[in-house]
Amino acid sequence: MKILVIGRGGREHAIAWKLAQSALKPQLFFAPGNDGMLTLRNVETCRVPIEETDVEGLLAFVKENGIDLTVVGPEAALMCGIADAFKAAGERIFAPTREAALIEGSKQFAKELMAKYDIPTARFRTFEQYDAAKAYLDEVGAPIVIKYDGLAAGKGVVVAQTQEEADEALRDMLLDNRFGQGKVVMEEFLQGPEFSLMAMVNGEQVVPLSVAQDHKRAYDHDKGPNTGGMGAYTPVPVIPKAQIDWAVEHIMKPTAAALVKEGRPFCGILYGGLMLTQDGPKVIEFNARFGDPETEVVLPALEGDLLQMILDLLEHKPVAPACSAYSYCGVVLAAKGYPGKYEKKLPLRNLDNASQTVFHMGTQRVDGQWYSNGGRVLCVVGRGNTFEEARKDAYEGVENLITPDLFYRTDIGWQAI
Ligand code: AMP
Ligand code: GLY
Repeated sequence: MKILVIGRGGREHAIAWKLAQSALKPQLFFAPGNDGMLTLRNVETCRVPIEETDVEGLLAFVKENGIDLTVVGPEAALMCGIADAFKAAGERIFAPTREAALIEGSKQFAKELMAKYDIPTARFRTFEQYDAAKAYLDEVGAPIVIKYDGLAAGKGVVVAQTQEEADEALRDMLLDNRFGQGKVVMEEFLQGPEFSLMAMVNGEQVVPLSVAQDHKRAYDHDKGPNTGGMGAYTPVPVIPKAQIDWAVEHIMKPTAAALVKEGRPFCGILYGGLMLTQDGPKVIEFNARFGDPETEVVLPALEGDLLQMILDLLEHKPVAPACSAYSYCGVVLAAKGYPGKYEKKLPLRNLDNASQTVFHMGTQRVDGQWYSNGGRVLCVVGRGNTFEEARKDAYEGVENLITPDLFYRTDIGWQAI
């Protein structure tokens, strides 16, 4: 069986790592992948130099090479309509269509869907004009959350503690068009621990994976700028099982059903970014894909054959994932300066003798030597019978791999201690 994985980061390395363990012994192709993905053992691997968003090029490759299944990592490919093109051509793909992926691509669409189907989320209003948005702000005051409606590389959300901060964000987004011409969603400020609940979805079928927690800020104690994510762990003890079950029944399943009713059935990974508020779990955002770095801990914690699960799900057969009894903790090593300016081609060390699972987020191999090739470079995943043990294991791995050019957060999973 030939599988194509689209993407080039730690998330895709984790997907490939898990697929490589399948009893179906697949042959793996990566477009464009990273060099770390070529180190997977007991499986044939190959990188193909096609960009994630080159839908025509990817489709031609799949046809020419008889690829049996394509699995998509990044959101950009979804918004280019990769699933639509593949489905039209009769090619098997595990990814949502553009219309279904709008649940991530448009905050307004997601919020209106939740309002229509009574899916718990923060109260909100949408604005296109600065004057109207400012008038609403003057009426409701701060704290308030302001979100640009569209893909803004994770920088489109401002949690404003004061009215001045909120006004600045509105000016930025609606007057100066910082992310392009667009709308903003203004949301009620919610409080509580956040968690990521990913589910494998096909139509109304929803198969939840284990719950994880991301760490978006660059530095310890949640200080510093927002990043793509500096670490994650699973399971999350501060979120009781009853609340997770509630979220599956009252958020994930109704959302999948709502998308079917709206004529945009979802196929792929539906990612709920949720917050456990005093009134129960509420949706902060949805993504239409695997989360990064959550995937780097959630897939190791998945017992079962991911490839077989995807194939069964695509045929609407029953799928029952089992969660590992272990805890997993993933710590990201990033280039100093990230998420601002940073250097590439920083030399890395000890990658070939790590005893932990290490996913490559941004690396390259030149003449047998490993170098960085991005802001987030590696994700070191520790495992243990308890969170404490998993954390200890992960940080032992970090000690082995750290160099003076890299930094990491020392408090991944602080909410679990
Ligand atoms: P998002 O891109 O929508 O996930 O937002 C990024 C981050 O902003 C979230 O992870 C939360 O920490 C915070 N956030 C977003 N919406 C809210 C809200 N309504 N109340 C409080 N914090 C929020
Ligand atoms: N970890 C958050 C995301 O993947 O968007």
